[in-house]
Amino acid sequence: MQGTAIAQPNIALIKYWGKRDIERNLPAVGSISVTLRELHTRMQVDFDDALAADALMVNDAPDEAMLPRLASCLDSVAGRDRPGARIVSTCNFPIAAGLASSASSFAALTVAAAKAAGESLDTARLASLAGRASGSAARSLLGGFVELENAGDDIVCRSLCGAEDWPLTVVVAITESGPKPVGSTEAMEISRRTSPFYSSWVDRQSHDLEIARAAIAARDLEKLAAIAEHNCLKMHSIMWASRPPMVYWNAATMRCLQTVRQLQGEGKGVFFTIDAGPQVKAVCLPEHATEVEAALRATPGVTDIMTTGLGEGARLESPG
Ligand code: DP6
Repeated sequence: MQGTAIAQPNIALIKYWGKRDIERNLPAVGSISVTLRELHTRMQVDFDDALAADALMVNDAPDEAMLPRLASCLDSVAGRDRPGARIVSTCNFPIAAGLASSASSFAALTVAAAKAAGESLDTARLASLAGRASGSAARSLLGGFVELENAGDDIVCRSLCGAEDWPLTVVVAITESGPKPVGSTEAMEISRRTSPFYSSWVDRQSHDLEIARAAIAARDLEKLAAIAEHNCLKMHSIMWASRPPMVYWNAATMRCLQTVRQLQGEGKGVFFTIDAGPQVKAVCLPEHATEVEAALRATPGVTDIMTTGLGEGARLESPG
């Protein structure tokens, strides 16, 4: 009764921010992301009748705080009467710092749990179950460019274009490694309740999605850059205008944006995006990745850089 799966985080270019139905974790808006290649989470799930309670190890240390959310994801896959579970998670990048660790964790957990429970579920069902645990996790079930639709009563993802069809590079500039002050789930709810910009965000999202879809279909980086940066800044302006305000940026985050602007001025194919954390992700053409990486590394306050291509969706670990 064991399953092991690998999943990579995804970075949203058109953001998911806000829920339409908290109970079922249905997003208020559609979103578009790219699945990364080099960053990953590996999850092993063991169902064992002899276990009195679930247990979770994250990077070799017990983690009580995350356990309830993971346990309820296991319930949704294997049923509430399932045996106790031993969950072992390893992640090769900072957790809970705005690098989408919950996306790769819940995507990998869902795939591993289905295997451990002996359930053969298709990708659509796995994405729906992962998305109930964490909205962005649904997108990590697929590789390349992925759209999470906002329609109907289920969480539905579809592939817009494979990783190999438009092999962009993502340079992640780390500016701080601690966990974020407010998690995304809570922050988006505060935004929904208090931000004066929230309803126009929801109203305009289908417009942004349409432009991004067309840019991806045409492999038009300039068009994608303009809409992705706009969508990202719009999401952050909702947070800044919330009560209490939520500002995830630090001084180095801002400096990284200036670095990206400078690179754009020099004609480099690159744009930025930022999630609920202080890290900056620079999406660029592979031929400009070396310059983008060097410029961000030289930006004051950047403590580390991770460079990755685009990758495939969550999958069972292949034996050996
Ligand atoms: C800023 O997927 O973490 O990264 O569904 O409450 O778990 P929950 O939220 P989560 O939110 C992700 C927010 C974001 C934007 C995005 O990935 O689209």
